[in-house]
Order: sequence, then C-alpha cells, then structure tokens
Amino acid sequence: MRRANKGLALIRFAVYAVSSYAVFLSALVFFPEFQPHLIYINWLRVPWGVNWSNMDGGATEFGFLAGTVRTVKMTTPDNVTLGAWHILPSIKVPQSVRIAVQDEDEVSRDRRFTTELASATRVFLYFHGNAGNRATYHRTDFYKMLQKIGERSHVVAVDYRGFGDSDRHVPSERGVQIDAVTAFDWVTAQGVDASKIVLVGHSLGTGVATWLAHNLTVSRGIHGAGLLLLAAYASMPDAALGYPMMPLLWPFKHHPDIAEKAKSLVGEKWDSANNIKQTGNWPVLLLHGRGDYEILPWQSRALFRNAVSARYGRQTPELSKDLSEFDPTRGPDDVIVSVKPNANYQVRIYPRNEGWLYMSHPVKGDSGKVWYLDVLHAGHNSLGKFQIVDDVIQEWEASIGGVHR
Ligand SMILES: *[C@@H]1O[C@H](CO)[C@@H](O)[C@H](O)[C@H]1NC(C)=O
Ligand SMILES: *[C@@H]1O[C@H](CO)[C@@H](O)[C@H](O)[C@H]1NC(C)=O
Ligand SMILES: *[C@@H]1O[C@H](CO)[C@@H](O)[C@H](O)[C@H]1NC(C)=O
Repeated sequence: MRRANKGLALIRFAVYAVSSYAVFLSALVFFPEFQPHLIYINWLRVPWGVNWSNMDGGATEFGFLAGTVRTVKMTTPDNVTLGAWHILPSIKVPQSVRIAVQDEDEVSRDRRFTTELASATRVFLYFHGNAGNRATYHRTDFYKMLQKIGERSHVVAVDYRGFGDSDRHVPSERGVQIDAVTAFDWVTAQGVDASKIVLVGHSLGTGVATWLAHNLTVSRGIHGAGLLLLAAYASMPDAALGYPMMPLLWPFKHHPDIAEKAKSLVGEKWDSANNIKQTGNWPVLLLHGRGDYEILPWQSRALFRNAVSARYGRQTPELSKDLSEFDPTRGPDDVIVSVKPNANYQVRIYPRNEGWLYMSHPVKGDSGKVWYLDVLHAGHNSLGKFQIVDDVIQEWEASIGGVHR
C-alpha cells in the first residue's frame, strides 16, 4: 500500500516536472521577448551594493589602488545611460602622488584621468559575460592582469544596459550592439586612436566584441589593434544548446534535426562564427579552458578555423590534437613546436600539455594573425588565474605592436 503510494507520488512528480518544462518551453517560444531574461541574466545583480558613484567607483574594495579607477557615464544614441570603469595602468605611483589623490576633487581627478588616457599605448575595452556586472570578482581580477600588460595599458569596462549602474532597460542584441559602439566611440573621443584599442570579450561578451570588430570593419573601415576572446561561443543558439546552467534545450542535443529547429527559435543570434570572417585584418587571440563546461571548447576552435580560413581564402581543416600528425621539433624551454604539413597554422605545445597554442602562419604582412590557446586546466571563469594565459597575452600584445616597459 505504502509502496504504491510512493510510486504514485513519483509518477505525479514526473508528470508535473515534464509538463512544467513543456509549458515553460512553449512560453519561451510564444513569448520570445522573455528569452533575453534567461540569456543576459542581468537581474542577478552581484556583487550587490557597490557604490558606483563614489570617487573610486567602488573599486578600492576590489583591490585597486585609490585614485586609479573612476566611473564614467556614456549616453547612447537611443538615450540610454551606461556606467563604465576607466582603470589606469598599473605603474608604481610615487607616494607623494598617492597622498595628493586623497584631497583631489572630481574635476581635477577627471582631468588627470583624461590626460593619462590620451597618452595610453593600449586601451583594453572589456565586454563582460552574462549575469553580475563589471565588478564581478573574476572580471576585476582579469582587469588587473590587463593593466600590467605593456607600457601604459588602460582598461575600460562597460556595463550594458540593464547591468550595474546603467539604465535599467531589458538588454537585447540590438540594444547591446548600440552600447558596444557607444563605448568604442567614447574611447576614441578621448583622443585614443583606434589602432591602440584591443576589444576584449568574455563569454557572452565575446559575441559583443566580435560583432563590434565586424561592425567597425564593414561599416567604417576601422582596423583596431586586436580582438581578445575568452571562452567564446560560435553563436548564441549554439551556446544555448549546450549551456548547463539553463539546460532547457538539452533534451534536443542528440537529435540533429530537432536541435536545428530548437536553435532557430533562439531569438538572440550573436553569430560570431560568421562575424569573425569579416573582421578584416584584426589580429585575434582566442583563449579557452579545456575544463569549461559552460561553453565547450569546440566553439572557440570553430572560430579559430573560420577566422584563419577567411584570412587565407581557403578552408582550414578541423584542428588536430594528434601529435603524430605533426612534425615536432623540440624548441627552447621544453616547448614543442609542430608544423602540420599543408596546414595554415602551427602548434606550440607547452610542457605537461598545460597549453596548446595554435598560431596561424603569417598572412598579408603579419597583421591578420590568429592565435588560439587551449588551456588544459582552466574553466569558464578561471582563465585569468593561469600564468600561461598571462604569458601568451603578453607575447601576443608584443606581436601586435604593443609598447613594452
Ligand atoms: C557613495 O559615495 C558617495 C561619494 O563618496 C557618497 O556621497 C555617498 O553617500 C555614497 N553612498 C552610499 C550609499 O554609501
Ligand atoms: C533621455 O532620458 C532622460 C531620462 O533618462 C530624459 O530625462 C531625457 O528627456 C531623455 N532625452 C531625450 C532626448 O529623449
Ligand atoms: C554598425 O553599427 C551601426 C550603429 O549601431 C549600425 O547603424 C550599422 O548598421 C552597423 N553595421 C553593420 C554592418 O552591422
């Protein structure tokens, strides 16, 4: 009797679960305007309670030196106000200057930041992933890596509409695109040449950065310094299909026809796989952790292949992970450098397989180079912790004309 009850309860639960899932899924199909809430997750406002308007933009509490971070406001053409951080390069500041910062008023602070920005050798314009805001811990850690690269590297990290202290609109692909263009135009309006700007994207932000590089190339013929993509996806529908945080489309993963249909119902496209083909000669560096279960590494590999193929004008085959297909030679520091006959790229393998760096052969001078670093132990949010990531970004930065200390 009791067992029968238990069985019944289980069946009832299963029916509830399956029907709620079906109702939820149909709601997403019939009310696609609800999808952005699941994609951008801007309602998850962590860290909570940041005082964006204090003199340090709230940044000293994230470990930046006093007087090195300011909040700036930007207004988009459709009249949305965005909050952003402008972070100065990490350089040894004399104690006297640091003391002077104590009594600085807002006008002199802005003047100091603006003067320093105009003489930047590099500006990293950072587009963050979904959920949280520009102050989320792994993001602030990554800015600290970027501000130490090269001679005078500034970081500008912008919150899209609906995030942080930006106006609370519901984000959408078109809206976020406008935000990205606005942030880029803000930086150049400060007297920074586009050739000094590296667009950086993490996770959802890789679609934004790639779209922006594409947009600037196609619409305005602007060639920036580079495109740095961490944990990139091929397109939003591809990312949604495999996203374990929101495993809504998982049941369709293994049925190619249904999967295609399900993907076509995802309203936000962020089609990086296509956009990256038309990024002119922007140098690209893709970084992806092998332990990333939110966005699987095949998506960065696909972007690498598409970018290299477009720059060569011929198809690049699937990246090989089999050393025997290469012609390995042991280079300095125990690094293996391998060239696959007829491939458009070579591979550098770090000791203990810690990283595989795929590097396109130079084409059209050297400006169109495309690199992809596959990091053995990294996950979705932890790339910035790895020395190998720091080293490869430094090397790439030098190769795209960065000025070194
Ligand atoms: C935020 O910082 C500003 C400037 O320092 C200050 O006037 C304001 O009271 C702070 N707000 C909160 C909620 O602490
Ligand atoms: C822009 O938005 C602000 C409020 O956010 C409003 O006060 C202002 O009138 C708007 N300007 C235009 C031109 O619509
Ligand atoms: C680039 O962005 C601008 C501003 O949002 C837009 O008007 C233009 O259509 C875009 N071009 C392309 C090719 O997407």
